[in-house]
Amino acid sequence: MTNSSSIQLESFELTMGDIAKADVDALHALSLSVSWPHRAEDWQIVRELGQGIVAHDSIGRVLGSAMLFDFGPYFATIGMVITSPRLQALGTGRWMMDHIIAQTGSRPLGLNATHSSKRLYQSLGFNAEQVVYQCQGEAIAPPAELLPPGTRLRPIVEADLAEVAALDLAAYGADRTLLLQRLIAISEGLALVQGDNMVAFALCRRFGRGHVIGPVVAMGDEEAIAVVRPYVAERAGGFLRLDTRQQTGPFPQFLMRSGLAIHDTVTSMSLRQVWLHGDGRPPADGKPLTYGLASQALG
Ligand SMILES: CC(C)(COP(=O)(O)OP(=O)(O)OC[C@H]1O[C@@H](n2cnc3c(N)ncnc32)[C@H](O)[C@@H]1OP(=O)(O)O)[C@@H](O)C(=O)NCCC(=O)NCCS
Repeated sequence: MTNSSSIQLESFELTMGDIAKADVDALHALSLSVSWPHRAEDWQIVRELGQGIVAHDSIGRVLGSAMLFDFGPYFATIGMVITSPRLQALGTGRWMMDHIIAQTGSRPLGLNATHSSKRLYQSLGFNAEQVVYQCQGEAIAPPAELLPPGTRLRPIVEADLAEVAALDLAAYGADRTLLLQRLIAISEGLALVQGDNMVAFALCRRFGRGHVIGPVVAMGDEEAIAVVRPYVAERAGGFLRLDTRQQTGPFPQFLMRSGLAIHDTVTSMSLRQVWLHGDGRPPADGKPLTYGLASQALG
């Protein structure tokens, strides 16, 4: 069944198609059917960033999707995996995942599994690593605080791409330059600099019901708070989201005080190689850490 381009499910015959050719409104309707917050514009962006498949029935209705996001030759993430509720638990998810995984050779893979998908990924050999906390809500203006000593904030411009990508690479472990280039173009960005060095950055863009802050990369909690706080203040009263693997410490406490409560969790899982090292706390070796995900699909 792995690479077959069609599958018979009870009275449905599903055929696989290229997600790049799918109608964006049909993709939007699919994600709405599983209560995901993506707007059609958010689908447009993920489609530019990755490749993938749709499953459609004989009259062209889009009933499933799955995508792959490549970060250089050594790592890729899988995301936007959806089966229409009326077809779930019949094998569509596994059929789409088998097809996507077959495209990846021996590359290590990562994904963020929702509760309903964890069993599917486990049965495909993925190992659970860390929990991601989806923090969101109506932003509450945080009190002003001093920046870490010797640092200053400045906006990120396109010319900062190489430095942003280097900091992100040190934290993420794979080169996301192309993704960051696209995100910088559609986001506001702030960098925290110390002398000539960037020690933290955060991007903030329109997404779903409001805005999402991510990715956020920083040397420690204080630096992460310094780049996130201005966006919380600016968006006070509006809907704001940040996905983080930080469970304890000043950063998640700051999110909680800012109105971004834990709404849900997903599980970061990997295939073929360990994805996330450490315990989610800032490493002692002076390496930066990912405090906010770009998105659940992109890691
Ligand atoms: C996750 C999802 C894509 C799975 O798709 P699906 O077409 O139902 O998957 P399959 O029918 O191939 O089932 C895959 C496995 O999950 C199990 N499964 C499916 N639905 C289940 C349910 N409601 N409860 C428990 N197990 C379930 C199946 O038994 C199967 O297990 P097996 O491989 O051990 O036999 C689908 O549930 C979905 O779209 N959920 C909402 C969106 C989402 O969370 N996507 C995941 C993003 S990471």
